[in-house]
Amino acid sequence: MLALLLAKSTPTVSRVFCALGFGLLVLVVSEVAAGQTASSGGIGGERDTRHRVGLGDNRENYESASFVTHSEAIVPLVLPNTESEDGVNQVAVFEALEYRLGLPALTDDLRPEEVSLGRALFFDRRLSANATLSCGMCHIPEQGFTQNELATPVGHEGRSVRRNAPSLYNVAFRENLFLDGRESSLEDQVWSPLLAINEMANGSRAEVIARIRAMPEYGRRFTSLYEEGLTERTLGLALASYQRSLIAGKSSFDLWFFGPASGSGTTGLGGNRHSSEHEGGLARADFSLEAEKGFAIFLQVGCAACHTLESHSAMFTDGKFHNTGVGFRRVLKNQQPRRVQLAPGVYVEPSVLLETEVLSDQGRSEVTGDESDRWRYRTPTLRNVSATAPYMHDGSIPTLEAVIAFYNQGGGGDPEQDARIRPLGLTAGEQASLIAFLESLRAPNIDFLAQQARDGGIGDNH
Ligand code: HEC
Ligand code: HEC
Repeated sequence: MLALLLAKSTPTVSRVFCALGFGLLVLVVSEVAAGQTASSGGIGGERDTRHRVGLGDNRENYESASFVTHSEAIVPLVLPNTESEDGVNQVAVFEALEYRLGLPALTDDLRPEEVSLGRALFFDRRLSANATLSCGMCHIPEQGFTQNELATPVGHEGRSVRRNAPSLYNVAFRENLFLDGRESSLEDQVWSPLLAINEMANGSRAEVIARIRAMPEYGRRFTSLYEEGLTERTLGLALASYQRSLIAGKSSFDLWFFGPASGSGTTGLGGNRHSSEHEGGLARADFSLEAEKGFAIFLQVGCAACHTLESHSAMFTDGKFHNTGVGFRRVLKNQQPRRVQLAPGVYVEPSVLLETEVLSDQGRSEVTGDESDRWRYRTPTLRNVSATAPYMHDGSIPTLEAVIAFYNQGGGGDPEQDARIRPLGLTAGEQASLIAFLESLRAPNIDFLAQQARDGGIGDNH
């Protein structure tokens, strides 16, 4: 009972949203817990020791190679007492499983202790080479497990990352990982950000394992979960386990379409779409008439050809790779200038490509080597899409309104783009209905997932 109460209570830690910009970290304090004094010290000068977490990072000289964080939260950790922590985790897993309506079957068991360990690691900055960057700083819980404030993240020592950070909601159900599909196992995938020089920049797998091994608070937890203790494999298992727990279905659309009264279980694809008898009934829940209209348009103009639905579940993605013209549009925007101004009145005609390797992004063809796959990207899920702005692989479209306008005008205009992306001629009202439908795909538990991310009281969790 105590555990339940603890799990449901408002988190007492101050919430700090970390946004990275131009090589400097900008801290935006969204909420300071009652009784806690916001510090004006922190940056430079004497450190203010009154607060426990959040505000205290001295990131002066962050951009220099010798930077060492002074985050208070990476002093040796005090684990919360096991009883309440397990309670929190039990509730977390129970809650996660509650929100499966509309999602495919979960193939892996969620073990509360494993989820909890993965969560601690996910928010621990010490997993990066200079102890500044956790997974949770690019996949921010309060920002849809992506970054709402940056089109593309900034990683180690301010280096650019060329793609938008995908949201991790329902990542358990993704067959292809990364926007070009270069990985498929969530367990193996973790090494990509851990080792990438522009993300967490560790020198080797062994270096990461050795560093975590030196942290006394993790050893016991690994050995109690896995016979082999902490290894490259079990680090992947733990991190994947937390990510698999980010289950977010049961939206108002799901209740209407897949809910008990919808009839979709027996009649296959269709659900309430064909039956007016449930109108106003239980299954409709919060699913508005406007959203229903939007869903009809969604099917009618062919969005569902790529953002697919199955008879018993819907991820709104076919898991395949398509060219919608975003890559083309990006290159047009960054078109090689014919003349570059060096000083007032001084111009040169550049003979080298100005777009750097970092920005160049060929999409799926980087994986397959097949020229025809250029600028194809994985179809993203549309679940919880209203919480995961900005959009597209490069975060180049800031709002859902602008995404719909993009489709309405016929995509990016690449002559080689998918033929199904063509001008739609939708009225303003129809576009608004489409957006209402997309908004209806938002799970009711996403605030809980954000709260639970911070609730563990473990790891360097901001
Ligand atoms: C510097 C920012 C940054 C950090 C730190 C980071 N990620 Fe990511 N993550 C990204 C970006 C950007 C992508 C997309 C890359 C691509 O598609 O090429 C991504 C992709 C992913 C994906 C694939 C999701 C999908 O839909 O395919 C997973 C899973 C993931 N990250 C988990 C993690 C984990 C676990 C960590 C910590 C070990 C981590 N990330 C650290 C930015 C980051
Ligand atoms: C030919 C397949 C295809 C069709 C048809 C299609 N999409 Fe997409 N959609 C994609 C792909 C691929 C992307 C990602 C493009 C990128 O990352 O550059 C995408 C991205 C999106 C996004 C942004 C999601 C995010 O998280 O970034 C939204 C919203 C969206 N589509 C909605 C729609 C709607 C609404 C329609 C119908 C008007 C539609 N799509 C038709 C393939 C398709």
